[in-house]
Amino acid sequence: MARIGTDIELAKELLEKGEVVAIPTETVYGLAGNALHEDAVLSIFEVKKRPAFDPLIIHVASLEQLSAYVDTIPEPARRLAEAFWPGPLTILLPKKKIISDLVTSGLPTVGVRMPNHPLTLRLLEKLDFPLAAPSANPFGYISPTTAQHVADQLGDQIPYILDGGACGIGLESTIVGFENDEPVIYRLGGMSVEQIENVVGKAAVRSHSSSNPKAPGMLSSHYAPRKPLILLPTHYTSDGSRLSLEGLRDVGALAFKQPLPGILPENQRILSPSGSMAEAAKNLFAYLRELDGLNIEMIYAEVLPDDGLGRAINDRLSRAAAR
Ligand code: TXA
Ligand code: MG
Repeated sequence: MARIGTDIELAKELLEKGEVVAIPTETVYGLAGNALHEDAVLSIFEVKKRPAFDPLIIHVASLEQLSAYVDTIPEPARRLAEAFWPGPLTILLPKKKIISDLVTSGLPTVGVRMPNHPLTLRLLEKLDFPLAAPSANPFGYISPTTAQHVADQLGDQIPYILDGGACGIGLESTIVGFENDEPVIYRLGGMSVEQIENVVGKAAVRSHSSSNPKAPGMLSSHYAPRKPLILLPTHYTSDGSRLSLEGLRDVGALAFKQPLPGILPENQRILSPSGSMAEAAKNLFAYLRELDGLNIEMIYAEVLPDDGLGRAINDRLSRAAAR
């Protein structure tokens, strides 16, 4: 079983030996390995049971480090990094040869971000290589937001989990790339569309490619619990009289601000009683996991208002609902 602790030196030693270690970030926990070491990169795919066509992103300690791994940094990309790093933003840039095709699944671009977590930033500063790190969950399942989530699913396959507490944001990073110098958002995430557009102007959102391996890994079924998840549109839940969930004993609910009528209280999780999107994002994956572990047949999930982080939360819910 993986040891769980806060020993950065141990994490560093293991990573330098080519081993895979789970690391905390502000978004979700990552399954990290030396991005310049092909065996370490292969181990990441193996542990996660991730198909080789789904590329990994790399994590760096500073914007200055970037030029070692990417060819060019377009002006708007630099502005985004300066505005939001360290933070939940991954930028796709043309890769240098030093980044293996294994990392990018053969794509000419590599996704890069500087995570905003004190332990992981200190670790990255001590390493002389970037860390490739996908979310530390088995492929397709809900992403982990605590060290225990990682231990529960991958603990028998990795030596160490660096424990940085519960992730502060709880949603994966937003992924931005450029097509003909125009910004394109390929994955909605911890940085809202509005925040990105404040820096680079209007951005296209193209996060809905289904099974195209060339497209940024946005498979339509993802982040999914094992139990069926059914979405309840807001117009449905905001008007209780239209809700006929009465007497449903073997279902659970993931609600936004208040419990849904007709479902047992112990089978419900409320994302944010005060209606805070940030709190809802932070609780989302942990609550989905809890509901997945209950003795119920299926999970109803309330769709949130579709702006700010709500849009990214709804994106995850709809992928979790897709079968
Ligand atoms: O918040 C995050 O980004 C977390 C933490 C650990 O940093 N990492 C994460 O990695 O979510 P992962 O592998 O679970 O999701 C990264 C996504 C994948 O869907 C992948 O397909 C896409 O990024 N991606 C990676 N490189 C790409 C590239 N060059 N072009 C398009 N999409 C890319
Ligand atoms: Mg993932």
